[in-house]
Amino acid sequence: MKAKIKLNKSNCCSLSNPAQKAIMNIPGVYGVTVNSFENTAEVEFTSETNLAVIKQLLIEQNIMEADKFKEKAQNWDSPKKIEMANKFVQFIQKNSLFNKELDIIEAGCGTGLVGLNFVNHVNQVTMIDNSPSMLMVLEEKLFEQNLMNVTVIEGTIDDYIGNQVDKIIIFMALHHINNIDSFIDKCYETIRPGGELIIGDLLEEDGSFHYPEQVAHNGFNLNDLNQNLNSKEFKILKSEIFSSISKNNREYPQFVIIAQKNKA
Ligand SMILES: C[S@@+](CC[C@H](N)C(=O)[O-])C[C@H]1O[C@@H](n2cnc3c(N)ncnc32)[C@H](O)[C@@H]1O
Repeated sequence: MKAKIKLNKSNCCSLSNPAQKAIMNIPGVYGVTVNSFENTAEVEFTSETNLAVIKQLLIEQNIMEADKFKEKAQNWDSPKKIEMANKFVQFIQKNSLFNKELDIIEAGCGTGLVGLNFVNHVNQVTMIDNSPSMLMVLEEKLFEQNLMNVTVIEGTIDDYIGNQVDKIIIFMALHHINNIDSFIDKCYETIRPGGELIIGDLLEEDGSFHYPEQVAHNGFNLNDLNQNLNSKEFKILKSEIFSSISKNNREYPQFVIIAQKNKA
């Protein structure tokens, strides 16, 4: 049997290639080809093992990332989540220009609650997420709706190697990203001059929003984030609270930032 699996970047890019060694050490695996460019490995194995076992062993050794949204993906599209995404979409459609010439990326797209709203209004949408289960739900929608101008990438923004785009949108996913500086730098590099990075997320909170889960950031301080974007040559066009989420008998405010890369 043969399967292609996604690896942690740090493993497959290393010269000594720990991924290759770790996969070959799994009983039942008889072949592995690592593609350091794609951060993937093609694994060949006998019926002595199976893909779920291989993946679990590699997650335990930090060779593969665990799919943190595996249990949530199938029921992600609840009325509450759809309403939340729609409010964000309405805000950005009102405050940013979209037309058929534009290419956009949605990072942390999940099941597509935000990005799919733009498919008919732009030229090309690239949807990036590192959860295979969330992307499986998205891909079912793409297939059912026969959407041809959408490219899906399983991974992070660092896995995008295409042409520059006009806008990068990220909604409720920045708080899951450890290295915000590196994310913003990659966005700056990927956005055309005059293009925009559009961020929607939680204002800083006490960790109760995701409790008992832990995430990389308990929301963001709006001033700090704006200053960070400014320091990386983005101009802040909009920065405001646009909505809030009711949870745990309280309200968690949500902000939106529209930051423009300098035009020249
Ligand atoms: C809270 S969900 C939001 C999904 C979608 N934006 C929505 O509003 O329905 C966060 C998403 O970000 C994805 N994610 C987390 N870290 C990521 C990363 N470093 N790169 C790409 N996607 C990531 C998760 O897999 C998940 O699908």
